[in-house]
Amino acid sequence: MQQSDALQPNTIAEIIRGRRSISRFRPEAPPRETVLEALELALWAPNHHLTEPWHFYLLGPDTKQAIVDLNTRLVQERQGEAAARAKRERWSAIPGWLLLTCDRSSEQQRFLEDYAACCAAAQNLALYLWSAGIGMKWTTGDVTRHPEFFEHTWMDPDSEAVVGLFWYGYPDESPDAQRQPLTSRLVELP
Ligand SMILES: Cc1cc2nc3c(=O)[nH]c(=O)nc-3n(C[C@H](O)[C@H](O)[C@H](O)COP(=O)(O)O)c2cc1C
Repeated sequence: MQQSDALQPNTIAEIIRGRRSISRFRPEAPPRETVLEALELALWAPNHHLTEPWHFYLLGPDTKQAIVDLNTRLVQERQGEAAARAKRERWSAIPGWLLLTCDRSSEQQRFLEDYAACCAAAQNLALYLWSAGIGMKWTTGDVTRHPEFFEHTWMDPDSEAVVGLFWYGYPDESPDAQRQPLTSRLVELP
């Protein structure tokens, strides 16, 4: 698929319903300015007390490589050489890497609300990228909780919690997804 063929959904309903988590990407990185626009829009998420608890880390090639290496090692320890090689190949091909963290508040309710705001910011980001033909995957795999991950990303796990490691790029797949009908999740009270 060429960039010009990328899906360009028009309405907000099309963008919300059509967005899919993408794991396989074409090799070229999306324009930095589009990614920065998406990040700026992420900041407009609702946020109780306007704490603005989010931190975005755009990962460059050295950081990406360090995380790929770390994850390969973890997979090798758990699942062996072949699985580790396959994972290294797939992760190395992902063009865009972004980390979102949330301030850790000592107050539980504040932290819950801050984390919720960060999730809303993540969805703003995903929907804007999708509207520009760019797919994203939100991941929270084991690697994002490993002490070496914090060193590679220069984040302080005592003051920030990982909300997600986001991969992005032009989709090289069109995955399906289903949702249960609204009636299975809706209760109307008198
Ligand atoms: C908080 C969160 C963590 C996720 N972590 C992972 C992950 O570690 N690996 C993965 O493959 N998908 C992960 N996902 C993506 C979900 O699997 C995906 O959203 C789900 O399958 C529905 O597909 P859709 O996003 O295309 O609608 C995560 C999603 C969320 C919201």
